[in-house]
Amino acid sequence: MSQVKKQKVGKKSLLVLGSGLVVKPGVEYMAKQSTVFDRILLASRTEAKATAIAAACREAGATVPILTSELDVTKDEHAGRLADLVSQVDGVLSLLPYLFHAQVAEEAIRQGKHFFTTSYESPELKALGVKAKEKGLLMLNECGVDPGTDHMSAMRTIDEIHAKGGRVVELASFCGGLPAPDANDNPFGYKFSWAPRGVLLAAKNTATVLEDGKAVTRTGREVYSTAVRETVRGIELERFPLRDGTMFVEPYKLSGEVRKFHRGTYRYAGAWCDAIMALDSLGYLSLDVVPASANVATYLDLARHLLGVAGDADAVRAAVAKKLDIAVDHDLFKHFAFVDLFGDEAVPKDKAPLDVLCAAMEKRMQYAPGERDMIIMRHEYVCEYEDRHETVETVMNYFGVPDGDTAMARTVSWPIGIAITKLYSGEISLPPGAYRPTIPELYNPILDELSKLGVEYTDEVVSTTQK
Ligand SMILES: NC(=O)c1ccc[n+]([C@@H]2O[C@H](COP(=O)([O-])OP(=O)(O)OC[C@H]3O[C@@H](n4cnc5c(N)ncnc54)[C@H](OP(=O)(O)O)[C@@H]3O)[C@@H](O)[C@H]2O)c1
Repeated sequence: MSQVKKQKVGKKSLLVLGSGLVVKPGVEYMAKQSTVFDRILLASRTEAKATAIAAACREAGATVPILTSELDVTKDEHAGRLADLVSQVDGVLSLLPYLFHAQVAEEAIRQGKHFFTTSYESPELKALGVKAKEKGLLMLNECGVDPGTDHMSAMRTIDEIHAKGGRVVELASFCGGLPAPDANDNPFGYKFSWAPRGVLLAAKNTATVLEDGKAVTRTGREVYSTAVRETVRGIELERFPLRDGTMFVEPYKLSGEVRKFHRGTYRYAGAWCDAIMALDSLGYLSLDVVPASANVATYLDLARHLLGVAGDADAVRAAVAKKLDIAVDHDLFKHFAFVDLFGDEAVPKDKAPLDVLCAAMEKRMQYAPGERDMIIMRHEYVCEYEDRHETVETVMNYFGVPDGDTAMARTVSWPIGIAITKLYSGEISLPPGAYRPTIPELYNPILDELSKLGVEYTDEVVSTTQK
């Protein structure tokens, strides 16, 4: 960090907060850089998880000491502990749930420490980034896989296109974390390594895309009903937008030139969107707690309640078919059967239908031992040059290690681990301020190192038409 204040000569230390699903590969990467780090402090609500990560890193050959401690950032009695941990290090990486980042960032900046996350820059983090700059510090957010390497790989290509005199008039940027094809064995084409609530809630959110140069906001149902089929590396997928993609037009240096910009995620083709829309139509995405007066004890009871019918499972299936206007042997019934939606299993008490559905999915849609996940990312750029139109694509498809690191964990925590290592060692040198990895000073060294680790982004011109 040659250009930032508060330099410490020699090796540096880092506080990592959180010991969840994505943390281990990034900590292992940094704990193997013994010329850069003298210590890593790993603190989390459940210290046993931090201790297990530290042990796994040591077993994998990491030599930088990893010291663990218990810290619950919501407990008043732990406030002094957070301040104490922050005081012992040069920087703080928050891998806590995103709601806690601002609180931690505030403490880090108050004590003159750099701050890092893999999460979206919230308005609170943006405001704190200004303070970080004033104090001569660095803040780096959105440095995971998505957000993270999606920005990096897209920006590397966009900068190249601009350098060659081209204009990007359309950009589609999609990334999914899915079961690898060899582990894709349920009708939803999806598995959860965490609680599915957030994934189901996403179906109720709007998404904003740029169409003909104008921002267009779609409801959850519109998003799913307009999902686009796409084959990437031989894998048949469906893609749909998420969140407000238009907020990246300006950071991607595409203001005034891009007319169409979609940013979102992938599922396996035909497996997800139709099923979630059908479940929504049947009432399973409702957040209204089922009243006790409805006497819902089993999944079959819940189906009867939602459909307003009596009778056995066959009667319910007939009512479902009628409501969805499909045949009783329609493929969607494979989805319903897989989660035993019309079965006799007891439902969790005092919950909304969405949470009852979550419980059924969570139980059946987990990775089994030996199964791999994968990350699949693709950007498609339609470019205009003086003499031609060109379509370029960037693709990354990375697989998890059976019984080892998931692709998700590696591709989320390696980029930030690489970034911190290179900032600490001085290989990346930035003026104080808040960043996302959209600039060459960050994306080139991080993507180069990821490539050495086997996470490859390949660019290809897929078509050229002379004007
Ligand atoms: N950019 C990307 O591509 C990307 C992708 C995925 C995730 N992320 C980000 O990565 C971060 C970590 O994700 P993850 O999947 O590892 O999350 P996770 O599995 O849910 O883990 C969260 C961790 O935070 C700890 N925690 C929760 N509440 C806490 C509290 N009050 N005080 C202290 N610790 C607390 C949990 O403790 P327990 O051990 O007690 O549960 C757990 O260790 C999140 O910020 C997420 O937004 C980024």
